[in-house]
Amino acid sequence: MVTRTPLIAGNWKMNLDHLDAIRVVQKLAWTLQDAKHDTKDAEVAVFPPFTDLRSVQSLVAAERFDLAYGGQDVSEHDSGAYTGEISPVFLARLDCQYVLVGHSERRQIHGETDELIGRKSAAALRHGVTPVICIGETAEDLEQHGASAVPVQQIRTILADLPAGDVVVAYEPVWAIGSGQAATAEQAQEVCAAIRAAIADVRGAEAAESTRILYGGSVKSANIAGFMRQPDVDGALVGGASLDPVEFAAISRFTH
Ligand code: G3P
Repeated sequence: MVTRTPLIAGNWKMNLDHLDAIRVVQKLAWTLQDAKHDTKDAEVAVFPPFTDLRSVQSLVAAERFDLAYGGQDVSEHDSGAYTGEISPVFLARLDCQYVLVGHSERRQIHGETDELIGRKSAAALRHGVTPVICIGETAEDLEQHGASAVPVQQIRTILADLPAGDVVVAYEPVWAIGSGQAATAEQAQEVCAAIRAAIADVRGAEAAESTRILYGGSVKSANIAGFMRQPDVDGALVGGASLDPVEFAAISRFTH
């Protein structure tokens, strides 16, 4: 049986500038150290705005913090006339282990499609950066098709042309994001199990067993334990609660 190391990931969205980032990352790392956070329990990652990444890289390297980090988006291209885009090459050069792709805010505000998200994931993989592929249904989808249908279709499309490689999937029901109304642990389990079955179908049982699937949407220290008890939930993608380093450290120590 494959053991999947849980991943607790904090998506800062468009919050905290590069000076805030230094303060928050220091506080987070020290709080985890004080609590004797053990990386066997969970890997912890932060996703700051692009302009913070160089500061985060320098701090993590200088202090040897046991903390992963990544960008919140990536271009499907390596270089060229793509004003405003960030190359996967640049993220790799900043030692980003991960990058978020297909967050629902990018889908809704910037019209990103599953096909584009697949190409962005491929670009990240080409440069050794693990994509954290975000999927999830809206309230309307939920009402019309139930919880699993849309995220399962999304992951099938994204994986269809994606070369083999380590990916993380983040299941974030759109109605639960920033609403304070998280899915129940049982709802999250049901959809994450359906997503894992779809991965098995597309990429084989072994790949499905080793792929980490996170739940995201109004996660906080008060509800994380319930999600982490579910067999198909391997961690969390945390938004608002990740901006407070003490709260985020508490979420990361869900097993304690
Ligand atoms: O990517 C994480 C996010 O969308 C969830 O946000 O604030 O509900 O934890 P939040």
